[in-house]
Amino acid sequence: MTILDNIDLAIEAGSSVAIVGASGSGKSTLLGLLAGLDSASSGSVRLLGRELSEDERAALRSGSVGFVFQSFQLMPHLTALENVTLPLELQGGGGIGTREAATHARGLLEQVGLGKRTGHYPKLLSGGEQQRVALARAFVTHPAILFATNPRAVSTPPWATRSSI
Ligand SMILES: Nc1ncnc2c1ncn2[C@@H]1O[C@H](COP(=O)(O)OP(=O)(O)OP(=O)(O)O)[C@@H](O)[C@H]1O
Ligand SMILES: [Mg+2]
Repeated sequence: MTILDNIDLAIEAGSSVAIVGASGSGKSTLLGLLAGLDSASSGSVRLLGRELSEDERAALRSGSVGFVFQSFQLMPHLTALENVTLPLELQGGGGIGTREAATHARGLLEQVGLGKRTGHYPKLLSGGEQQRVALARAFVTHPAILFATNPRAVSTPPWATRSSI
């Protein structure tokens, strides 16, 4: 089955692009390809001026690219602060120190209005609060590109059939 056919898309640095379309039309599939989470049966994707290769995908994911998924994908056994700090810890030796990482993560949680919720586990947070934790986590590594699936999902009624990537 063909999901995406003859796609030719260029997104300029610094721009914000929303891709909208009917449910099942292929938005999430396209995002997966652009973000290097998936590979196409033919064609190529260039990200930040570089052809996406198998080797580069993991490196890109850990640094240059941030994701906010529709279901947020927060780690249930980590607090909000620990969830936001995690990407910095995964960067390992090349990243910043533990204390600095926590300070930076706390600052981001304050920016999204969750300064008083840093010690809460995801299940104790509302859907919108979880989404804001996911946003803070996506920004913590200063990604060059942020990919977000259904960023308005929280406020979109479940019966809506159009959604943005
Ligand atoms: N893992 C999969 N295996 C097989 N087919 C899939 C898979 N994921 C999605 N599809 C199919 O690919 C098509 C595009 O799906 P996709 O998830 O990209 O749509 P979408 O535009 O993001 O939809 P929505 O707005 O509902 O999130 C659909 O027909 C779907 O059934
Ligand atoms: Mg989708």
